[in-house]
This record gives sequence, structure tokens and C-alpha cells, in this order.
Amino acid sequence: MYTEKVMDHFSNPRNVGEIENASGVGTVGNAKCGDIMRIYLDIDDNGIINDVKFKTFGCGAAVATSSMATELVKGKGIKEALQVTNKAVMDALDGLPPVKVHCSLLAEEAIHAALWDYATKNNIVIEGLEKPKTDISEEEVEEVY
Ligand code: FES
Repeated sequence: MYTEKVMDHFSNPRNVGEIENASGVGTVGNAKCGDIMRIYLDIDDNGIINDVKFKTFGCGAAVATSSMATELVKGKGIKEALQVTNKAVMDALDGLPPVKVHCSLLAEEAIHAALWDYATKNNIVIEGLEKPKTDISEEEVEEVY
């Protein structure tokens, strides 16, 4: 059911953790399954993502997609990070079962939410980035993190 890459990133997830004083933090959730994902970005003055970490409370596919998404944005510029769609994450994992496609959307949304937070903090507009929507309330986020 799961590819080797999914199993690898689930069993040995990359970039787990937090970044203190991160440039941008994005937290998103899926109300249907209750899974929550947070991504931290450390972005330098040239707009390069120097470091990225995640904390995901969710299913195996959510963990694997978070892990792969962090690998795909690390070292990239903001524009390139925006190209990391859920499809790109799934392709990099050699696919996900159809019922797990929604899990990969969380990774894309969490990156966008972290970039939105970065843009808001720095009072800049990132072309092509829309305000992320999330199904979870502030209270739920507080409870989990
Ligand atoms: Fe909800 Fe995977 S089942 S993110």
C-alpha cells in the first residue's frame, strides 16, 4: 500500500523538531481526521530557507509528507518553496494511496502558512501566496503545541 520512500520517511522522519525564533511558523489541521501539522522556517536576509523543522500529530502519511516537504524546501528560495505543492511532495515519495492524498495537502498548506507568517512579520507581499485557510481553532492549536 505504501511505497518504500513513504515507509522510510515515516520510520525515519527528517527535520523533526522546532526552531526557536523562527522566521515563520505555520500550523494547519484537517477537521475530518483531526491531524495537525506545524512547520517552522528559518529564512535568511536573502530569502533562502536555511533551516526547516516540523512537528506533526497525525497519521503515517502526514508524517512522511511533512518530512519530504521539509527536505524539498530546505536550501530553497521563497519562490521555489511555493512550487512545493502536495503533488510535488507525493511525486517525491513515489505516490500515496488515493485515500491518503488529503494528508499531503497539509504539508503544502503548512509551508504556505509558515511563509504567510514570515511575510506578515516582515510586512512584505509574496507573489502567488494566498492567505492559508485552516480547519483548526486557536484553542486546538494551543492544546496540542
Ligand atoms: Fe489526516 Fe492523514 S489521515 S492527515
